[in-house]
Order: sequence, then C-alpha cells, then structure tokens
Amino acid sequence: MPATQKVIIPATLIPGDGVGPEITEATLAVLDAIGAPFVWDRQVAGLGGVVACGDPLPPACVESIRHTRLALKGPLETPVAGGYRSSNVRLREEFKLYANLRPGKTIIPGGRYDNIDLVLVRENNEGLYMGYEHFIPIDGDPHAVGMSTGVNTRQGCRRICRFAFEYALRLGRKKVTVVHKANIMKALTGIFLETAREMYEADYKGRIVFEEIIVDACAMKLVMNPWQFDVLVTTNLFGDILSDEIAGLVGGLGMAPGANIGEDAAIFEAVHGSAPDIAGKGIANPTALLLAAAMMLDHVERSDLGDRVRTAVDQVLNIDQVRTGDLGGWASTKEYTAALVKRLSA
Ligand code: NAI
Repeated sequence: MPATQKVIIPATLIPGDGVGPEITEATLAVLDAIGAPFVWDRQVAGLGGVVACGDPLPPACVESIRHTRLALKGPLETPVAGGYRSSNVRLREEFKLYANLRPGKTIIPGGRYDNIDLVLVRENNEGLYMGYEHFIPIDGDPHAVGMSTGVNTRQGCRRICRFAFEYALRLGRKKVTVVHKANIMKALTGIFLETAREMYEADYKGRIVFEEIIVDACAMKLVMNPWQFDVLVTTNLFGDILSDEIAGLVGGLGMAPGANIGEDAAIFEAVHGSAPDIAGKGIANPTALLLAAAMMLDHVERSDLGDRVRTAVDQVLNIDQVRTGDLGGWASTKEYTAALVKRLSA
C-alpha cells in the first residue's frame, strides 16, 4: 500500500434514541477533528428501529454489524415492564459480546472522590439477563407470581474470568477482585466464584493479586474506600449495578464509557441510557460516548488517537473549564463540542 494511502475501517453507527443523536453528533465532530479512520454505515435500532421499520433490532442493523464487526452505539430505549425486549441485550446475544468492560476514572479532580481508577468487567451474556421469565396467573390476577431463572455456565464463567485476568495483566493492573453472592445463590454465582478461584490457582497465582468479595459488601466498600479495588469481575446483574455505582464515583453517568467485546464483534457505547428527561434540549454530556469512541480507537490499535481524545476531554474540562450542566457547568452540548474541536485543531 502506498504510504500516502489512508487506512479506512468500516464501522456501524447507531445514533440511538433520546439524547443519542445529540451525543453522537458531538462524537463524530471530535472524531473528524482527529481524522479517525472510521467509515460509518448508519443504522437504526431501539425505538428508532420501531419507528422506522417496526423492529427494535432491524435485520439491516444486524447485517451491518455482521459485516463490519465494529460499532459505535448511542443509547437505545427499552420499555419498562412489558413491550419489546431490550435491543442491547439482543445485540449482546447475537454477537456473543460476552465481556462488558466499564472503566471508571477520575477526570475532574476535587469531586467527592479523587484519583479513582477502576475497571469493572461484567459478564454480558448469562446470569439473570437470559430473559427466562414468566408470570403465573392465580385467581384472575395474570401477574400473581413473577419468576426469573438465571443461568451461568462453566464455559461462560471461564471465558469472562480469563478475559479479566488477561486484561488486568496486559494493562499492568495489580489486583483482580471477583464479586459474587455465593453464600446465598450457591449454584448461580457459586460456579462463577469457583471458576475464578480455580483459574487463579492454575494460571495466575504469583502474577497478580486475587481476592473475592460478596456483592453487598463490595457495594458498601466502593463507597467507603474505592481505592482498595483495581479490576473487578462479576456476573451480569451485579456488574450492571456496580458499574453505575462506579460511574457515580467519577462524576456520574455522563462520564462512564463501556465496551461490549466478543468473538464476533465489538460494540462501544456510553453506560447511560437515552436520558428522555433532557433529550432534545441540547444539554447532554457527550463525554461518555466520546470516551467509548476512544476505547474503540484503542481496540483498532489506534491508541495514539484514543489518547488525543482523552487529552482533549481532560484539557477542556480542567483547563478551559467548559462543562455541561451535569458536571456543574453551563455549556451546551454544542459549546462543549466546539471547545473540544478547538483544542484538537490547535
Ligand atoms: P438514563 O441513563 O437515561 O438517565 C438517568 C439520569 O442520568 C437522568 O437524569 C439523565 O438525564 C441523566 N443522564 C444520562 N445520560 C446523561 C448525559 N449524557 N448527560 C447528562 N445527563 C445524563 O437512565 P433511565 O432514565 O433509567 O433510562 C432511560 C432509557 O434508556 C430506558 O429506556 C432504558 O432502558 C434505556 N437505557 C439504555 C441503555 C443503553 O442503550 N446502553 C443503558 C441504560 C438505559
């Protein structure tokens, strides 16, 4: 290939629902400013998919990701109790995105917690998110009993624990903590703990520190002394909850990126949802999606560009002091984005 020929990487773009289009526009402006290598195939899903073609996960969207194996995704709306099944969960199943990587790192110092640098590795395909749920009607009440069955497999536990140990070693981390509730759910989360212990003994002992903790104690200790943790690995539901808690330690959901990584594809997104309460007002914080895009650049081995995004975010928030409302500032999404682009063009 001639040295001047630009490498391009096809990727699927799902702007998403609610604040999704606003934060996606901001992210694209920043990616354009650094000359990111992605060529986007725009698709719809979630409520956007229902409106456009009556399907929360249209086949064209699935086909696009099957082709590109790489996507940047805005939040997708899921109706609470009833309605269609989460498109996010379906995407994770479809592409076997078994690892959900959710880092929480302090960018703005001087908050309630300083110097937070945690990574939560959440199992993304099993546990209580399998959707094996039903109601039992009794005496005319169709919802007299609600039931849910969780499933964790040995293979699934091995896959995610291996991912967590390898990730921790690769990134030079010091400790992996497995979070469980094996004192009560002895089968469902016992198998997870047992697998992590066995894997540590067999392959990682002496290479990294390993510890185990019950989820309720973990939730409390994250508030009392989060610095005692480093990389945490846990099952689906606990991971979902604890990653929001970790987001709260670093300034809220507007600052929390996530990567869904699997054998067949990788999808990058903000941890937060579609924020319907502020959608269309132009005040959403796009940082979480921007940091997710930086993780996507790391994934395609362009950490040089990922670092430029992270540095610009740091400079704009801390030196320029341009911040959106959720961070106590006054900037609109567009003003914050303009400050980022200015930094990157300087
Ligand atoms: P949410 O994360 O959308 O909002 C929670 C709170 O955080 C709201 O007050 C919102 O204004 C605020 N917030 C979220 N993102 C923000 C941002 N970028 N800037 C400033 N403030 C922000 O959670 P909620 O309201 O429970 O869910 C809304 C919808 O999003 C639901 O349909 C839910 O299913 C969906 N959802 C989708 C996710 C995804 O696509 N990955 C993840 C979580 C929820």
